[in-house]
Amino acid sequence: MIKQNYYQDLSKMNTFRMKVKARCFVEYDSVADLVELDFEELPKPVMHLGGGSNLLFTDDFRGTVLHSRIRFIEELGEGRVSVGAGVIFDDFCDWAASRGFWGVENLSHIPGEVGASVVQNIGAYGVEVGDVVETVYCYDMQEEEFVHFSAEECRFGYRMSFFKQPEVKGRYIVTHVVYRLSTESCPHLEYGHLKAALPQGEVLTPALIRKTIIEIRKQKLPEPSETGSAGSFFKNPVVTSAQFAEICKAAQIENGPDYAVPHYVLEDGRVKVPAAWMIEQCGWKGRRSGGAAVYAKQPLVLVNYTGEAEPEEIIGLMKRIIASVEKKFGTVLSPEVEII
Ligand code: EPU
Repeated sequence: MIKQNYYQDLSKMNTFRMKVKARCFVEYDSVADLVELDFEELPKPVMHLGGGSNLLFTDDFRGTVLHSRIRFIEELGEGRVSVGAGVIFDDFCDWAASRGFWGVENLSHIPGEVGASVVQNIGAYGVEVGDVVETVYCYDMQEEEFVHFSAEECRFGYRMSFFKQPEVKGRYIVTHVVYRLSTESCPHLEYGHLKAALPQGEVLTPALIRKTIIEIRKQKLPEPSETGSAGSFFKNPVVTSAQFAEICKAAQIENGPDYAVPHYVLEDGRVKVPAAWMIEQCGWKGRRSGGAAVYAKQPLVLVNYTGEAEPEEIIGLMKRIIASVEKKFGTVLSPEVEII
């Protein structure tokens, strides 16, 4: 079934809870509905919305917003699972953990839907969704045909995929994703405090890791049902070792010569520095600006503090943070959130 509305309120369809409307909103239940849609007729531009958990609408959308309700989870055997793009990603994590499948337990409690999860290559606690994707099935709006991409063709990177490249952005609608999960135990516990947070002496299962991750995330990140946000607002910057030395020098001026800057050295020798640390060092943690604020427990997250924040307030706060981090550390932060 295809549902089409005009001047649709999107405030409940974006986790930042911006009060914006779409000139046209189309929701479809199946692949057959997609084929039936007359794209020529739809107001342009056309964008596809997942759970609306990684974007900031800055105004009403003058074109068409599409939303998938293709919702199925089908076991194909040997750990392969086919999942519809409209399935809530965490429902899939729950499904996998409850059946003892390994692979997506570290991605538990991330808001959003399956289709968007591959576009953004969502990641948490040392795992990215691209690690367990086998094939992404799409509808090509340009050629009006069904296509599929192997994980290699998706060119997954840090919060990045082929689908986000400017030359193809918006062209492919993800219909479903085939994941390759594992029935053999393969926990990823190397990230941060995950190992320490796990209960001692219990047998490790995907369900136990899922439960622990959910507890960690609930402590650090705002609950989408309570506070509007889009999770991490900025990406963690990756800098050269020379730039990292400059960052250390700047931090040691204020914190003393023995101060150790948190960082992760990547395989290519470059260094990933937590943007949360940089933002905190610039004094932004917990600060409010109109209806917007920097989340006190995790300064990488900007929140709609009052529930009434205007997009300009979030953008203004973003710009001021970027400017002060650049001034102090010489690093320009990039938003992780898509600004529309
Ligand atoms: N930190 C501070 N002050 C704080 C909080 C953190 O200095 O108040 C520093 C600490 O050094 C800490 C480091 O930041 O060790 C990293 O913090 P954390 O482990 O919470 O993760 P993150 O780098 O801030 C990333 C992802 C999250 C993901 C977590 C866990 C990005 C942009 N964000 O955050 O993803 O859940 O790791 O894997 O890569 C999202 O994308 O929306 C998201 C929440």
